[in-house]
Amino acid sequence: MDKSFAPIAVDLFCGCGGVTEGLKQAGFTVIAAVDNNSICYKTYILNHPNVTFFNKDIRKTSAQSIKKLLCGQKLDLLVVCAPCQPFSRLNKSVKPDERVYLILQSIRFARVLRPQYIFFENVPGLSKNNIVMDTLKGGLEKLGYVLTSPVVVDAADYEVPQRRARCIIVASQKKVDPFILPPPVTPNGNRKTVRQTIADLPEAPIGENFEDPLHFSRKHSSKALERLRHISHDGGSRNELPASLVLACHKKLEDAGEPKHYCDVYGRMRWDSVSPTLTTGCTDITKGRYAHPCKDRAITLREAALLQTFPLTYKFSGTPGEVAMQIGNAVPVNLVKNLAGAFLPKGEK
Ligand SMILES: C[S@@+](CC[C@H](N)C(=O)[O-])C[C@H]1O[C@@H](n2cnc3c(N)ncnc32)[C@H](O)[C@@H]1O
Repeated sequence: MDKSFAPIAVDLFCGCGGVTEGLKQAGFTVIAAVDNNSICYKTYILNHPNVTFFNKDIRKTSAQSIKKLLCGQKLDLLVVCAPCQPFSRLNKSVKPDERVYLILQSIRFARVLRPQYIFFENVPGLSKNNIVMDTLKGGLEKLGYVLTSPVVVDAADYEVPQRRARCIIVASQKKVDPFILPPPVTPNGNRKTVRQTIADLPEAPIGENFEDPLHFSRKHSSKALERLRHISHDGGSRNELPASLVLACHKKLEDAGEPKHYCDVYGRMRWDSVSPTLTTGCTDITKGRYAHPCKDRAITLREAALLQTFPLTYKFSGTPGEVAMQIGNAVPVNLVKNLAGAFLPKGEK
């Protein structure tokens, strides 16, 4: 696509740039991005130096200053991937989480920027928050937008080697074609697998790797290594541990007659399947099924980045924990790339 005619997008809550990367691969020009996290900012500009980044709280970011960047051109797409933790079933906090309302900032940006489409991506729990959903719908309808009903898609259907259920809502201006969800690119039976994604990587040394700073193994404790050795390759789980190696916290729950909790902890990924959903703890075997299918270690940051479909050339800034946070929070690049065609202006599909 000729760059001078490329459709234009703005990426709100851009994180380390998963959405931006997917949009660029689909032929969009991203002109502005907003995120208040300074680690994400560093990663983002390493990879997308031509995008104007607002490293600010979205509530204090001026929509007018983004409008100026458009220089009178129309905005084709506004992407809004607000923090999902407040809507997640994993969030057991009873305290009110103010972040739940951040998504509503999109109304203010829509009023000023008048994008043709607004694309919301979040966890399925978003659609269950009636206050947020009603306010979002009401606010955008007043501005003349038509909203789709929330639909849950699995990133695995869109060339991502990972099970990742996401809620998608699209608001479109009345004058543009209604949004139609593109059909799966990799439907069940034709998934991209863990094997296709990470099996060809070289050995990961423990601690540091000068060739590829993301491809190193954590140093596991001797107890953790002993547990991993008891868990069978290619999908084994902590059920296989002898009594002497069962974690005290699990033993206590089971002795109390509680049904099994956290069954995926210490589990291995399966070679010929998709990976489980990656979270910010994706390189920690105590946080989920994040052990390598056959090596006695957690997956590396490189493996996690590839399972999120970041290209090998994508650079990350920050400590290992900060990189895992950015990767786990990202929207998979291929999911965005494969959905973005539905937002291309007519005649360019
Ligand atoms: C789900 S992540 C976004 C992932 C990103 N779209 C990607 O593809 O990599 C949500 C982001 O919201 C950012 N965020 C949270 N509170 C914010 C605020 N008040 N203002 C701006 N950004 C915020 C976080 O730093 C985080 O990067």
